[in-house]
Amino acid sequence: RFTTPQIRQMLQRQWGDVLLQRLEVIGGIAARLGTPAYLVGGCVRDLLQNRPAPDLDLAIEGDVRALAESPPLQQPHAQCQLHPRFGTATLRYPDGFRLDFARCRIEHYPAPATLPEVRPGDIHSDLARRDFTINAMAVDLNPTTFGELLDPHGGRADLRQGLLRVLHAGSFLDDPTRILRGLRFAVRFQFRLEKGTRALLREALAQDILARLSGARLWRELQYLLELSDLPIALERLGAWRLWPLLRPEPADMESLLVRIRRGHQEIDWFRRHCPDETLFDAAVWLTILWRDIPWTEAEKRLHYWPVAGGHRILRDLRLLPDMPGALTRADRPSAAGRLWERLSLPGLLALCAEYPETDIMVESGHQHLRRQRWLSSPLNGKELQALGLTPGPRLGEVLERLRNARLDGEIKDKETARQWLIGQGILPSIQP
Ligand code: CTP
Repeated sequence: RFTTPQIRQMLQRQWGDVLLQRLEVIGGIAARLGTPAYLVGGCVRDLLQNRPAPDLDLAIEGDVRALAESPPLQQPHAQCQLHPRFGTATLRYPDGFRLDFARCRIEHYPAPATLPEVRPGDIHSDLARRDFTINAMAVDLNPTTFGELLDPHGGRADLRQGLLRVLHAGSFLDDPTRILRGLRFAVRFQFRLEKGTRALLREALAQDILARLSGARLWRELQYLLELSDLPIALERLGAWRLWPLLRPEPADMESLLVRIRRGHQEIDWFRRHCPDETLFDAAVWLTILWRDIPWTEAEKRLHYWPVAGGHRILRDLRLLPDMPGALTRADRPSAAGRLWERLSLPGLLALCAEYPETDIMVESGHQHLRRQRWLSSPLNGKELQALGLTPGPRLGEVLERLRNARLDGEIKDKETARQWLIGQGILPSIQP
């Protein structure tokens, strides 16, 4: 068991003096207002695991607004944002640090997999509504008891043993997102399910409880899962927990899928290094890799249900991908390859590269396209072509396109060589005024 001074020392050592002081100020104000405040949830788990300070969650027994808006809290130029609909508030400090305040609450689930009805409660009921014991601990911020660890469900012991344990038998049925949250924690912390919890998971899956989640809630959890840096381990766990059908039919060749996933990480890293100003929706790369070898309808049925940004582009890429390697191999010029690469979205292109070893010529071609070729335009623009005597219209567009291709193929490099090339092609007369 940790003593109060020990927790205080951990707060100071791991999260620093400034943060400790902020928490003491909050605890003092909360006591004066008669609204006790506690650190809760993931940040307490992280504190006990010696992990760096994340954004902190505070549970308040009483009015969130009065505390979050109290003048002393605003003094270090912190900005308070209230979310009246949820009875929560966010305090942002100038150094970027964030504190989230929520009123302690009791949750009641009227039916499985629905959103809960909530009403105000105390810290014990607030801890009792949570997902796993390791996330159901609190640290008291009240000046007289500052640093006291509240651990009514044995979270500390489970943390030490690396166990994920739900607080009650109906937990997964109430909120099936906990199944995927559990998987995430299992991967991130290399924890395993406690025996009773494993049995409850099996029962919940036998009732097909995840099918009752809305597409939006399910997709949000799956997206968090796909964002894990240990995605190969997450996918292995997905199999062990018999959850493959959520994402796709179980892969026949897991090893080759994992190779493509690891290569996918390399491709995404490559892209971030070489194109740092561009945005990439990583999840689209993962879905394309994961769905490349399954029937198109399997992907389509999931995208029909999940609100995935740009889902239609993923489907289009999946239709294009089977023919791409052959077509790219047959492309005899850079411009022909460029036209093929341009048919794919950025995630689709990276997913295709992930199918080949890093040094493969296909990968080289894809990278070349991303770094250079896609940015190349015709050395002469439309205005300049008109000044050379071409008339505006569709033919001008064709000439621009041909000039761009010639540049891609290294036949021209500047305005002068472009002009010569136009003469050589009979597009411009050889004697220019
Ligand atoms: N929580 C829960 N059931 C959920 C979602 C959240 O009980 N379906 C509780 C847990 O106590 C969790 C806390 O709310 O610790 C905060 O949730 P969240 O911020 O999503 O996760 P963290 O545990 O803080 O983990 P992370 O480090 O991933 O943010």
